[in-house]
Amino acid sequence: WERPDRIPLRQRLLVVANRLPVSAVRRGEESWSLEISAGGLVSALLGVKEFEARWIGWAGVNVPDEAGQRALTKALAEKRCIPVFLDEDIVHQYYNGYCNNILWPLFHYLGLPQEDRLATTRSFQSQFAAYKKANQMFADVVNQHYEEGDVVWCHDYHLMFLPKCLKEYNSKMKVGWFLHTPFPSSEIHRTLPSRSELLRAVLAADLVGFHTYDYARHFVSACTRILGLEGTPEGVEDQGRLTRVAAFPIGIDSDRFIRALEVPQVQEHIRELKERFAGRKVDTVLLASILVNFSCSIDKLPKVNQTHAKRCAVVRPRVHMAWWYRVMLGVDRLDMIKGIPQKILAFEKFLEENSSWRDKVVLLQIAVPTRTDVPEYQKLTSQVHEIVGRINGRFGTLTAVPIHHLDRSLDFHALCALYAVTDVALVTSLRDGMNLVSYEFVACQDSKKGVLILSEFAGAAQSLGAGAILVNPWNITEVAASIGQALNMSAEEREKRHWHNFVHVTTHTAQEWAETFVSELNDTVVEAQLRIRQ
Ligand code: G6P
Repeated sequence: WERPDRIPLRQRLLVVANRLPVSAVRRGEESWSLEISAGGLVSALLGVKEFEARWIGWAGVNVPDEAGQRALTKALAEKRCIPVFLDEDIVHQYYNGYCNNILWPLFHYLGLPQEDRLATTRSFQSQFAAYKKANQMFADVVNQHYEEGDVVWCHDYHLMFLPKCLKEYNSKMKVGWFLHTPFPSSEIHRTLPSRSELLRAVLAADLVGFHTYDYARHFVSACTRILGLEGTPEGVEDQGRLTRVAAFPIGIDSDRFIRALEVPQVQEHIRELKERFAGRKVDTVLLASILVNFSCSIDKLPKVNQTHAKRCAVVRPRVHMAWWYRVMLGVDRLDMIKGIPQKILAFEKFLEENSSWRDKVVLLQIAVPTRTDVPEYQKLTSQVHEIVGRINGRFGTLTAVPIHHLDRSLDFHALCALYAVTDVALVTSLRDGMNLVSYEFVACQDSKKGVLILSEFAGAAQSLGAGAILVNPWNITEVAASIGQALNMSAEEREKRHWHNFVHVTTHTAQEWAETFVSELNDTVVEAQLRIRQ
């Protein structure tokens, strides 16, 4: 028996995604500062105890010189990250072009850009070539770092070609691919000039995962209708080889959000936000408002408040609703799929039809800039600014405006505080793979039991549908009516709906999602090997 040089304590998981979970800023010729972004995927994989995860991806910056690349590679290694260096032209054609101007809108049912409808146009062809080239570059890096027994998990629409490239290197590699966006109906997918090549490349994976059963079903039917392959309950079969296809709905690290609410800094933010947005004129009617907002009887209030409450309820029995300032919240990347203009127009309609609510409800819209080099995103920014300006001009007063729109992201603690003071969250994406903002809001609503208005076209509607008010985001009248329903909802109903969702969010976590996918990938490969041996 020979002792192997290196006995891995845990099996290695190579997570390959377009973007590494870090933001890298160059400080000097050979010096970089890195900040880990603790997004959903990062916390999900930290929770997978039996695997040791390494990340492979683009650092989001152009590093043309070798000295800079060496220094960045070294700095990233400490964070278990491995960079793929993409030059500006590739980023333009692969990331801005094929990924975000073609696949992203198509997968969200927004169609192909007009000039790219024909497969023969130069720009489509060169963007697709750049996409394949970029995927090959990712594969090269994976291959350099791969060790026998590693599990390779490829993520998202940027890397649909990767499973094929990896299997060409080594057919024994365990390869999983997961799509974080919707997979559209086969009738939409078939409009894509490179439809077959992409499907075949994905099918090289051992396991293919989606957020919902519908997306998985659409993928299987695209393979059967477009490629003529056989769809089975397990997946897609091609000449005796099975690619497993299944739904793995992602979640969040709910404990992280719940714990954050206790952090003094968050408590301080909450206090400030309440003072700023929810505190106006509250003192005079506080207890009466509590009674209405929580629809509780006076007897259920703490003893110390009962006398005052009785006096308020008797003296000013009808005043409370009209005086309580309510907070509505939207948190989205500034992306066409998020339906921000439609949401704001629905809010305008609500104010138009409910004059008694004007000046008593505020919409805070956090719109995080994204993909700012893509012209469609630039147009959207101006469009949203114009609508917000018009509505604030129409309904604002000298002392207050109905919409506070911020073009920026918030840090984690500020975001948790904002969720915690929100009465109604508006998640009205036109399409969305899952949408974890809805989960985060629910996790932070322990004291408020706020209402979630949720698009029926977000993957989350399939898990939070019973607790949320589901809406068609294209129907502005319906969304406006649902805002009224949410603001006027009784405390009992809010509580019931909240618990429904809270239980789901705290039991279907990101860690569980990652663990399920990875262990299923392992099992799939083992089963396939057994089948071959038989
Ligand atoms: C979506 C995609 C992710 C992507 C994220 C941010 O959620 O599914 O893969 O990382 O948007 O977009 P960006 O283009 O900034 O990476």
